[in-house]
Amino acid sequence: MKTILVTGGAGYIGSHTCAELLATGYGVVVLDNLDNGCEAALRRVEQITHRKPVFVQADVRDKDALDRVFREFSIDATVHFAGLKSVAESVANPALYYDVNLGGSVALCDVMDSHGVRDIVFSSSATVYGVSSDDPIPEHAEKQPAQPYGETKLAVEHHLEELCGENAGWNAVCLRYFNPLGAHPSGLMGEDPRGIPNNLAPYITQVAAGFRDRLMVFGNDYPTRDGTGMRDYIHVVDLARGHAAAIRFLDENPGFMPLNLGTGRPYSVLEVLAAFERAVGEEIPYEIAPRRDGDIAIYFADTTKAEKALGWTADFDMDDMAHHAWHWQSKNPEGYPR
Ligand code: NAD
Ligand code: UD1
Repeated sequence: MKTILVTGGAGYIGSHTCAELLATGYGVVVLDNLDNGCEAALRRVEQITHRKPVFVQADVRDKDALDRVFREFSIDATVHFAGLKSVAESVANPALYYDVNLGGSVALCDVMDSHGVRDIVFSSSATVYGVSSDDPIPEHAEKQPAQPYGETKLAVEHHLEELCGENAGWNAVCLRYFNPLGAHPSGLMGEDPRGIPNNLAPYITQVAAGFRDRLMVFGNDYPTRDGTGMRDYIHVVDLARGHAAAIRFLDENPGFMPLNLGTGRPYSVLEVLAAFERAVGEEIPYEIAPRRDGDIAIYFADTTKAEKALGWTADFDMDDMAHHAWHWQSKNPEGYPR
C-alpha cells in the first residue's frame, strides 16, 4: 500500500485525515511544525486506528528538512494541509500568509519534483469564490477572494495548475472545503483552537461548556430565511473521507482537478445554534450583534462534480456534527493534553 506525506497532519482536518488514511491501509508520514497542531492528536490517531503515523517536526518552508523526509521514506503522494488559516490575521500580516501558505507550497512542490513525487491533494477553501450566492456554487464560478488568506489559496491552485499543464507528470486535486465542523465520533479527536475561537462552532461549544458567556450572532438583517448568515457546514470525517477518495482519484486521473467539498445544504447561524442546543440538551445563550466586517450572506457548494469524480458524498448531517462536536468538547474540556 502507498505511503502518503501529510503536511499539517497534527492539525484539525489533518489528524482526521491521517486516521482515515491509516484505517484504509495507507502508510502515513506527518510533517508539522506544531504551530497550531499537537502531537497528542497523533497519539489519538494511533489509539483509534491501532496504527502509528511517523512524525517529523519541521516547517514546510524548510527544503532541507523536506528533502530528508523524501530521502528517508518512500513517499508516493502528498496531502498538503500545512498553513495558516485566520482571515483576520492574513489582513493584518499578508506577507506572513504569502510566505507560509504560498512559499511553503512552492517549496514542497520543488522538493517533491526533485524526488519524482508529483501527486498532490491540496487544502483549498471556498473562500476563493468570495461572493454571496443564493445558488449552489460550482467549481467554474468566478474567483474573487476578498482577503490575503483566500488570495494565497488561489495562488497555490494556480501554481499547481501550471505544474500540471507543463505535462511533466504532475497530478493535483484542490479540495475547496466549505465550513468544516464536528469531531471524530469517538470523542478522541476534534478542533482545539488556541485563544478565542474565530469560527462559529468552537465558539458555541465553549459557551455551552461555560467558558464564555454567550454567542454573539453577527447580524440578523441578511437576506436569508431568518436574517442570519448561512453556510454549508461539512463534517470533518466526511472531509477526511474526501481526501482518501482524492488520493485514489489521482491513481487513475492525470492533471489538475479542483473540487468542492460540502454538503450542498446551507444552515443559518440560528439553525446551527438550535442543533447544538439539541445535542447539549440545554439552551445556549446568545445575543444579536452587528455584522462582522467582510462576512457575506450565504454560500453553499454545488457538490455534483466532487460526487461524480470521487464517488463520494457527505454522510453526516447537522445533528451529527453538533452531537460529535459536543461529545469532543465534553470529553476534552481543555482540548488535547499539552
Ligand atoms: P489547523 O491549524 O488545525 O492545521 C494546520 C496544521 O498545519 C497545524 O497542525 C499547524 O501546526 C501546521 N502548520 C502551520 N504552519 C506550518 C508550517 N509552516 N510548517 C509545517 N506545519 C505547519 O487547521 P485546519 O483547520 O486543520 O486546516 C488545515 C488546512 O485546511 C489549512 O491549509 C487551512 O487553510 C485549510 N482550510 C481550513 C478550513 C477550516 O475552516 N478549518 C477551511 C478551508 C480550508
Ligand atoms: C470563515 C472565513 C473563511 C474560512 C471559514 C472556514 C472569514 C471572513 N471567513 O468563514 O475564509 O474558510 O471561516 O473556517 O473569517 N458567526 C457568528 N458568531 C460567531 C462566529 C461566527 O454569528 O462568533 C457567524 C458568521 O457571521 C457566519 C457564520 O457564523 O455567518 C460562520 O462563521 P465562521 O465559522 O467564522 O465561518 P465563515 O465566516 O463562513
